[in-house]
Amino acid sequence: MITRSRIIGCGACLPDRIVTNAELAARIDTTHEWIVERTGIFERHVAAEGECTSDLATRAAERALASAGIGASALDLIILATATPDHTFPATAVRVQGRLGMNRGAAFDIQAVCSGFIYALTVADQFLRTGQAQTALVIGAETFSRLLNWEDRNTCVLFGDGAGAVVLHAEPGEGNARDRGILSSHIHADGRYYDLLKTDGGPSSSRSIGLLRMVGREVFRHAVIHLADVVGEALAVHHMTLADIDWLVPHQANRRILDGTVRKLGFAPEKVVVTVDRHANTSAASVPLALAEAVADGRICPGHLVLLEAMGGGFTWGASLIRM
Ligand code: COA
Repeated sequence: MITRSRIIGCGACLPDRIVTNAELAARIDTTHEWIVERTGIFERHVAAEGECTSDLATRAAERALASAGIGASALDLIILATATPDHTFPATAVRVQGRLGMNRGAAFDIQAVCSGFIYALTVADQFLRTGQAQTALVIGAETFSRLLNWEDRNTCVLFGDGAGAVVLHAEPGEGNARDRGILSSHIHADGRYYDLLKTDGGPSSSRSIGLLRMVGREVFRHAVIHLADVVGEALAVHHMTLADIDWLVPHQANRRILDGTVRKLGFAPEKVVVTVDRHANTSAASVPLALAEAVADGRICPGHLVLLEAMGGGFTWGASLIRM
């Protein structure tokens, strides 16, 4: 017998305000057609003035707890992935913990930008499998709109705000791929590419939080290669092929990266969960948002084999193979 981290609840939260491509085209030199053709994005949600990452995270967490049928007092761990914390410190996870009324256990943030949720899931899984926690809340939450130069058409059309959360519970497994829960996670980083996708500020390098800077073409090229590689790595560990996967839940960076990766892998496009058209790139929130949507609408069912993957600034990238 071994311990598996099973997903027992999912939740999501998007800000009310929707910004369409037409609205952006009225402000900067771009068109709806260009954005759709190059990115597949039609609209994105943007947090209201004063609406913080913790607000979105708390609502997603409450919905995940409700779907799990447990209260916050059952949690002994919160890990929140974000590159847009409310404050430089304390951790946004602690703010969410306070709002949920959970006052025991541990709460901390993880920063791996768009791969943050996969990193957070990986860390939470380690806590559960070693018996250090029984029930964990893992959140990906972002307000990337605060990092954007809204005059820069190269970047501002690509991102949105949101949060997604899952509740993990430690349960016994047999140690094979029929077990329900996280079967394995695979995370990577390569700091040689630090400058290709970053902000030009931060507490120890400047007095401002900075704005997002990106060498889009290079990011695109690396994303397709790393994502295809890490999917292959996850499958190889379990002697599986893509035919075994019921659903691929990829990071929703843009439609062309998504399609390019799926084509490189030779995976069936109808088994890919896509939200980028409505959410744009919500960084660490994108995978749990897409997962929560596909669980809520009944596409992803108990027993399905689901592969999550993401790639982000750093570069960081990773994948998790999960039996729901
Ligand atoms: N509207 C209209 N034109 C735009 C534009 C916009 N929103 N954004 C850029 N352009 C222009 C550029 O200025 C450039 O014009 P120029 O040739 O006169 O200089 C032209 O379009 C082509 O730019 P280029 O960067 O070569 O386009 P591209 O086909 O590579 O597409 C991205 C740009 C950003 C969509 C693409 O590189 C990409 O998707 N990169 C990955 C980004 C990403 O997902 N990052 C997050 C990963 S976690």
